[in-house]
Amino acid sequence: MKRFLLGAIAVLLVQGIVGLAYVYSGFFAISAREPHTHLLWWVTDTTKKNSIRRGASEIEAPPLDDPELIARGFGVYRNHCLQCHGGPGVGPEPIGRGVYPPAPSLLPSPEHWDSAELFWIVKNGIKMSAMPAWHFSEDEDDIWAAVAFIEHMPELTPEQFQAFGRRATVEAPDRSLSPERARIGDPEPPP
Ligand code: HEC
Repeated sequence: MKRFLLGAIAVLLVQGIVGLAYVYSGFFAISAREPHTHLLWWVTDTTKKNSIRRGASEIEAPPLDDPELIARGFGVYRNHCLQCHGGPGVGPEPIGRGVYPPAPSLLPSPEHWDSAELFWIVKNGIKMSAMPAWHFSEDEDDIWAAVAFIEHMPELTPEQFQAFGRRATVEAPDRSLSPERARIGDPEPPP
């Protein structure tokens, strides 16, 4: 038993030294152009999914089918999300393609995440990815509005997405589209 314990400690020690040597060696590919190995992808992806599910387990989603809320969510989405995630008929800008993990299309997201989980992701962001926490820039109503829009978006054709934008801008102007919140390069603020 004693020999077994000593052996186990020796193995752990060697593993620790090899791990530390790797950390200091510079051999890990930190470039955003180099994909993860399958193993590292599995580890990070599984960790992420379980952390999000756990984090969202106590959140209760409000009703999200109000057309005004969805229109407001379009404003949030167009101003803050489209550049990385794209939309129906609209690809991501280079920033969304250049980050790693790449910013995914959100069209399939409602199949994988329920409303509370989507809310949690948007509010808290995802550590060590380019997905920001919107906690600092959007109030919770705007985040729920973005979730309402993400859940509605898969139903839209590219034409409806464009038309939706024009309609939403006119019928439901909101803070996220107001000039003082607009950033350089944002679409034109509403009249
Ligand atoms: C700078 C780029 C960037 C911006 C801007 C951005 N995201 Fe993301 N987002 C990402 C990246 C990268 C991921 C993938 C993170 C990962 O899987 O580790 C992601 C993941 C997500 C996911 C999870 C998707 C899935 O199915 O797994 C949701 C939902 C999401 N973002 C919503 C939003 C919303 C809503 C906004 C705007 C308020 C937004 N994002 C703005 C980069 C961005």
